[in-house]
Amino acid sequence: MLKLDIVTLQGVYQKLNMNIKLILLLIFIPLIALSHDVNIEDKNVEKIVKERMEKMSKIKALSTKMHPLTMSGIFDEIKEYNENLLHNAKDFKQLFPEGSQGGKASALIWEDRETFDLYIDNFIESIEKIALSIENEDSVSLIENFNIMATNCGTCHKKFKN
Ligand code: HEC
Repeated sequence: MLKLDIVTLQGVYQKLNMNIKLILLLIFIPLIALSHDVNIEDKNVEKIVKERMEKMSKIKALSTKMHPLTMSGIFDEIKEYNENLLHNAKDFKQLFPEGSQGGKASALIWEDRETFDLYIDNFIESIEKIALSIENEDSVSLIENFNIMATNCGTCHKKFKN
């Protein structure tokens, strides 16, 4: 439709006076501006998806490092990892704005935000419980709470990751 209009206008343009040039300009300027906007929008989504994946990679690396430490009886190192894990989990929650569908994130996240938020909140809460176990230097509850945290990964992926 649009192409046809432009072709028609171009035909008229050859026959008519300079005013047509002005009309064409008025048509093309918003078109160029519009396509520019769309590109910026796409780049933003790409950036957000990349950031999401990076956060998840960090979450995986941190939880992998923490696992053997839960049984070590030494709490300093795991405390640092766990604090870092908490930050990453909280950041991750902010990386799903409207229109940022992409990557391996299921479209269901945007269709059922309530459940997705609940899953992230459960995940965050489980990390906070690990912090409590560390605070109390309680290895038994630490191992227990680490396992609960780790089950959240699979629960969420099963429903919300493609
Ligand atoms: C509340 C939901 C949720 C929780 C909890 C969660 N993830 Fe994820 N994870 C996702 C989503 C969604 C993606 C896809 C993100 C994207 O591609 O935009 C993902 C992606 C990943 C990826 C990248 C996969 C790939 O192929 O690139 C890894 C690795 C990962 N998660 C590991 C973990 C680990 C380990 C845990 C637990 C310690 C965890 N996740 C907890 C939702 C979650």
